[in-house]
Amino acid sequence: MKDNITPHNYQISVRDRRERNGHNSFLLWFTGLSGSGKSTIANVVEQKLFKEGIKTYTLDGDNMRKGINGDLTFSPEDRTENIRRIAEVANLMIDAGLVILAAFVSPYKKDRENIRSIVKDVNFVEIFVNTSVEECERRDVKGLYKKARAGEIKNMTGISAPYEAPENPDIEIRTENESVESAAQRIAEYITPKLKLNDE
Ligand code: ADX
Repeated sequence: MKDNITPHNYQISVRDRRERNGHNSFLLWFTGLSGSGKSTIANVVEQKLFKEGIKTYTLDGDNMRKGINGDLTFSPEDRTENIRRIAEVANLMIDAGLVILAAFVSPYKKDRENIRSIVKDVNFVEIFVNTSVEECERRDVKGLYKKARAGEIKNMTGISAPYEAPENPDIEIRTENESVESAAQRIAEYITPKLKLNDE
């Protein structure tokens, strides 16, 4: 299918868009169990960046699965496809000059490595929201763990489907020991130098 495709070279480059915005563009990828706090932390980080005039956008599992990925289940193959599509969307948004925050369970190491290769290593910041399954189950904000225990949901990450924790994340947040505000502040500080345009 790709054989007869010839990309057109547009005159406005990612460099032009980044210069216009006054900052770099890249992807902040939050991975962790359902209910670990990914979206909550991403939300606070985005507000901080927004206040600084940074152009941002957030992609989130629960939202994307209603729209563009509404055809996908939670089987391993469909999760892989879910993450691949999100990575491609994020890649376009990086090209558009935005700082993307993405909060997805993304339980498989190979899928996260695939994101890194789609958006390129330098544009990828991996944030591991490390909350134990016991704590996620205790919080059970969406009632999904209860349903999984009752056998009403199959393939529930942490219960009946695996979560492969990142071994070397750029940032790790242990939400049982750190507040949302402190975690968001730490992420904001980590990315400050990355936001600066470099002289290429
Ligand atoms: S991923 O594994 O493909 O990355 P994604 O982040 O898009 O998952 O969606 C996860 C969200 O879907 C969870 O936050 C939860 O609300 C909901 N969900 C429903 N069923 C499951 C399941 N079996 N495993 C994990 N999350 C589920």
